[in-house]
Amino acid sequence: MFETTRPPTSAATEAKTAPRYWIKTYGCQMNVHDSEKYAGLLAEMGYVPAASPEDADVVLVNTCSVRERAEDKLFSELGRLRILKEQNAGGSNGAAKEILVGVTGCIAQQRGDEIIERQPAVDFVIGTRAIQTLPEVLADVRRTGDPCVNTQDLVDFEAQGVRTDTVRAFVTIMEGCNNYCSFCIVPATRGLEIYRPASAILDEIRGLGLRGYREVTLLGQNVNSWVDPDSSMEFPELLSAIDESLRRTAREDGQPGVERVRFLTSHPKDLSPRLIEAMASGQRIARHLHLPVQSGSTRVLRDMNRHYTAASYLEQVAALRAAVPGVGLSTDLIVGFPGETDADFEATLELVRQVEYDSFYSFEYSPRPDTAAVTQYDDDVPAETKRTRLIELQRTGQSIQEQRNEAWVGRETTVLVDSLSRRSDEDVSGRTSSNHIVNMAGDAGLIGKLVDVRVTSHAAHSVYGEIIGVPH
Ligand code: SAM
Ligand code: SF4
Ligand code: F3S
Repeated sequence: MFETTRPPTSAATEAKTAPRYWIKTYGCQMNVHDSEKYAGLLAEMGYVPAASPEDADVVLVNTCSVRERAEDKLFSELGRLRILKEQNAGGSNGAAKEILVGVTGCIAQQRGDEIIERQPAVDFVIGTRAIQTLPEVLADVRRTGDPCVNTQDLVDFEAQGVRTDTVRAFVTIMEGCNNYCSFCIVPATRGLEIYRPASAILDEIRGLGLRGYREVTLLGQNVNSWVDPDSSMEFPELLSAIDESLRRTAREDGQPGVERVRFLTSHPKDLSPRLIEAMASGQRIARHLHLPVQSGSTRVLRDMNRHYTAASYLEQVAALRAAVPGVGLSTDLIVGFPGETDADFEATLELVRQVEYDSFYSFEYSPRPDTAAVTQYDDDVPAETKRTRLIELQRTGQSIQEQRNEAWVGRETTVLVDSLSRRSDEDVSGRTSSNHIVNMAGDAGLIGKLVDVRVTSHAAHSVYGEIIGVPH
């Protein structure tokens, strides 16, 4: 599942004898990157990736609790792992061996001991801010035979991950969230904001460039509120500093290095003119913004505690598009928030029609324990209404996305090829700076290269093109 950085000669022999791990990841990119950090710790301990949970000595389930169904899924998965553990302990899968099962991530942070009480097959639980305790937790469980729970606040930004991708890399710039959107559980599962120093962020990006990475995504729940703990630098200046450093180090290192910097997620209330300016002037800053709007009704936005109005959001979008021509725009939307009327929902549809997003994620509102929306409001939109609104919203958004993709036909653009196509063995896939997916004929040799492409056709979620220049 994960690449390792160990030498191939020892890897071949090790693979037969070394202990193995399997990691199942749910949730957002922060969790994906946390799984890379767990894989890094396990690799340092001599573990290698397993082909399946059956084949593993340690199984980690890295969880998400943003919606209720995620929790239900976790406990059915843990039920399956309990059976697997019992079969292995009894030797019915071959030689008897013990599998250790750990639960990490957002549900782990939130539920702690409760997880072990509800599912005794779980051997350990590690919270979102205690990732680096994995080696001692494993040692503890092995020594005592008792379950172990660690949900302490011990954020370590410098944990080295084993990255799955060879072209694109995540770089954490902050942990936690101070916003308390009324529907959201994240401030409870990830804690309050804490920021990584600019110097460490710049160093990691330079190191990634030297190792051949061509794109990085800066990660945080609300990257716009990042401030340097060692100076007064804010996020727009960080972007400009990264841009400047990438251009300078490309000359010094004699390598192209990281070509594109993306960042996730931006909160509309903190999207400043300076950030738009940093995007407009940054040569290596991707021309894409993920700007979750959640709703097009200002009344619902107020109850969501989002601190902006539909009108101010539309003004920001206009300012962004004027300053950054061709910028790709994506969003998150929630339907069925408490009190959402037909008119509120119509306002969301209207906003989606006006903005014309390039892509979007949409969800039915799901009440989360101890959030303000649960304590203050009734979940009064019937399930059936939530479902029909979601379907209508998705239909509207998708037809806009398709029209926008159609408008790409005939255009020339530059694509960073990042993988083989999922649909065809003869195609590769990549993204434009604006985050549009482009497929084209090609082989694995193109992965990691920038290619100039002419778009020849479109589909619902991507476009197809032909290469018109020498890959670089
Ligand atoms: N920090 C980001 C932001 O400011 O929007 C988003 C983080 S959240 C983990 C990802 C998305 O999940 C949110 O933008 C929201 O649309 C959705 N979400 C969060 N809580 C939800 C809930 N209780 N029910 C449905 N969707 C939810
Ligand atoms: Fe959740 Fe709001 Fe923070 Fe995003 S900004 S993580 S939606 S509380
Ligand atoms: Fe889920 Fe936690 Fe991310 S709740 S969306 S994994 S921050």
